Amino acid sequence: MRVIAIDGPVGSGKSTVAKAVAGRLDLPYMESGAMYRVVALAAVRRGIDPSEPDALTALATEVDMQIGDRVTLDGEDVTDELRAPEVGRAVSAVAAVAGVRTELVRRQREWASERGGAVMEGRDIGSVVFPDAEVKVFLTASAGERARRRELDETADDLARRDRLDSTRAVSPLIVAQDAVVIDTTGRSVDDVVDQIVALLS
Ligand code: DC
Repeated sequence: MRVIAIDGPVGSGKSTVAKAVAGRLDLPYMESGAMYRVVALAAVRRGIDPSEPDALTALATEVDMQIGDRVTLDGEDVTDELRAPEVGRAVSAVAAVAGVRTELVRRQREWASERGGAVMEGRDIGSVVFPDAEVKVFLTASAGERARRRELDETADDLARRDRLDSTRAVSPLIVAQDAVVIDTTGRSVDDVVDQIVALLS
């Protein structure tokens, strides 16, 4: 099974680059953050507080989610709602719950194995979900560029807060996996970065 892991902070270019790599290699593309956002949306809708780990773990286990070009929660297309500010504000706390992570990591592995491989992007793909991935990439970009890329759907304060929570949580924080190749995407074209990643494949 061929897995390419692409991790990095908000606005590092993960989604754009991972989609383009998947297109080049003809592999399925999976945005693992969508799974965390689905659980966060379900929690917001049901009024479950981020400080209730048991309820959130039960929710992550119970909900039906389909992840693809469109994303569904219990059969309803929620793709557009996943970017809502209230989901963005809840998602880091939801993603810090150990039980939620265990269940979503299980779903991510299943998703890739059912499809015979994937280009998967997130925060812990190379470090936790697929430690044996064929290639692990950690994308970065300057703070200014990251804020510019995300300014349409997230304020600089929300972005900084989410980064801080994602990097300092106790379970699977955002870290550079030991054998990951770090690529700074500041000022570089998507094609250029994709060329560099594809050249890493044996
Ligand atoms: O990639 P994104 O910004 O849509 O991810 C939303 C949140 O989900 C992010 O703030 C942290 C969490 N996340 C995670 O903890 N682990 C992943 N593999 C992907 C996302």
